Amino acid sequence: MEKYISLQDFEDAATNVLAKPAMEYFRNGATEQQTLAENRLAFRRLRILPKCLMGITGADLRTTILGHEVSMPVGIAPSAMQKTAHHDGEVAIAKAAQAEGTIYTLSTASTCSIEEVASAAPDAIKWFQVYVFRDREVTRKLVMRAEKAGFKALLLTVDTPVFGIIRSDIRNSYAFAEHLKLANFVEYFSKSDNADDDMKDYVGKLFEKTLTWEDVKWLKSITKLPVIAKGILRAEDAVKAAEMGCSGILVSNHGARQLDGLPATIEVLPEVVDALKNYNVEVYMDGGVTTGNDVYKALALGAKMVLVGRPALWGLAVGGQAGVQRTLNILRTELESTVQIAGTPTVADITRDMVRHESSFRK
Ligand code: FNR
Repeated sequence: MEKYISLQDFEDAATNVLAKPAMEYFRNGATEQQTLAENRLAFRRLRILPKCLMGITGADLRTTILGHEVSMPVGIAPSAMQKTAHHDGEVAIAKAAQAEGTIYTLSTASTCSIEEVASAAPDAIKWFQVYVFRDREVTRKLVMRAEKAGFKALLLTVDTPVFGIIRSDIRNSYAFAEHLKLANFVEYFSKSDNADDDMKDYVGKLFEKTLTWEDVKWLKSITKLPVIAKGILRAEDAVKAAEMGCSGILVSNHGARQLDGLPATIEVLPEVVDALKNYNVEVYMDGGVTTGNDVYKALALGAKMVLVGRPALWGLAVGGQAGVQRTLNILRTELESTVQIAGTPTVADITRDMVRHESSFRK
């Protein structure tokens, strides 16, 4: 895997490994894909202002996430149907996260089950992403299984009353491969149930459209695990989530797959962080992170951790577990370089004044 030296190298290589419809399913964003581009471009508009002669002796990227020590503030965001990228699927990414000492989030719509992932990566810090089903009992059972399997938190996706419009999926009539199953609820589906239906449409029909803040309370009431709200972009929503008892907020626009024309996540992160300064809630972000520099900028603007979605899928497609580990290691190496040259060798040193918007340099 040593020949890959940037996350872009992995994305380019994935293009050669994956069939075009699968590549487009993973890569693309909603409608005009403006937000997809902005998620990355907005990082470029931020500049790092290094401190000199800081007597640097090394980098220390360790931090604590909801009480668990991680080796660096970079975790894996949930994404559906990971066996589409590689036959080892979710298990390979979870094992990579375990080997690298960081967090893995399993999607509700996974192709390996909660239990398979737990037994393959028992020491990984695992989170479970929750889509609430119309039949609450389905969700309740999934949550109980995640608890029993040793998952450490629930990531409740709050930005998906319906799935966004991804034009390439429509053009490609994209459907997941026949042999892939939604491993967490094989008991609920028989093959004939979804034989005529695109699996995404089929699952979409089963998810609860009418979720409200009351459902956050409901989720809290059925579990001892901390709940993190995934998909918050407005400060007032962050405060609501905190008041409903969420332990964390993931500032996310779902990798620009839901609604186009949204701000880049890095743009709204400071507002959310500021709104929560009197709450005991951790703030994370995802969307468009592809370099250690990006991670650094997110940390400076107040994120406790960033999550990566597509980069893990490119690593998985190209090299299975080893590809994901290499992806995480590239981010680690780049972040270690950045923190040292910026004169802020530990995560706690990375304060907001380390980063300025490019517009502040113009007269
Ligand atoms: C996702 N994402 C996602 N989120 C979620 O809550 N449940 C899910 O099942 C999925 N599935 C999914 C599939 C694919 C192919 C992608 C690319 C993304 C969103 C994901 O968790 C995360 O928010 C974004 O991927 C982060 O942006 P980047 O890192 O991909 O730019």
